[in-house]
Amino acid sequence: MADTFDFEHAFPVPIFRHSRLDGFAKHQQGLIDLIRRLRQEDKGIRRSNQLGWHSDYSLHELPDPHIKWLTSKLLEITRKSIESLGKGKSTQNLRVTQLWGNLSEAGAYNITHNHHLHTWAGVFYLLAEASCEESNKDDRGGMLEMLCPFPYGEQQGIANSMLYRPKDGTVVMFPGFLNHFVHPHRTPHMRISMAFNIDV
Ligand SMILES: [Fe+2]
Repeated sequence: MADTFDFEHAFPVPIFRHSRLDGFAKHQQGLIDLIRRLRQEDKGIRRSNQLGWHSDYSLHELPDPHIKWLTSKLLEITRKSIESLGKGKSTQNLRVTQLWGNLSEAGAYNITHNHHLHTWAGVFYLLAEASCEESNKDDRGGMLEMLCPFPYGEQQGIANSMLYRPKDGTVVMFPGFLNHFVHPHRTPHMRISMAFNIDV
């Protein structure tokens, strides 16, 4: 009888890609205007952003109807994401703990970083597609790249990294520990996104 074996990928890392949020068309411009206005009022903070503007982390506390819509949608899609992982995952105490805006002109990018100690992290693309045109499939300008947390990924058949092309209105969500970065874009288009941390 031939030798047999079985195997499993024991520690998968979930990365959720949510399609264009329902209601996006109604709130896109309001959120863009809000972020542009905040930039006029505030020089922003420096974290992983290089050349780009990064607001403070408390946008979820603003009494703004567009922000209320967004925080409520983020909680809704996070709840669905967690439930899709299997039964028994508590979603009762989900809360948006940080929410911020990012503006990136040509040349701006984000160095490798993670959102460790936050359970879930993610990005919501408000106006980013145009800064990441698919003129050349090898051009990673403007793309989000997630790094495999395992040191020997490729030798074990696991990709070293995953690339995500921004689509306006969509969300990419992942565990806070996961390292990632954003490639610099070289287009004349401003790239506008919002990022968040959600805890359970
Ligand atoms: Fe990030």
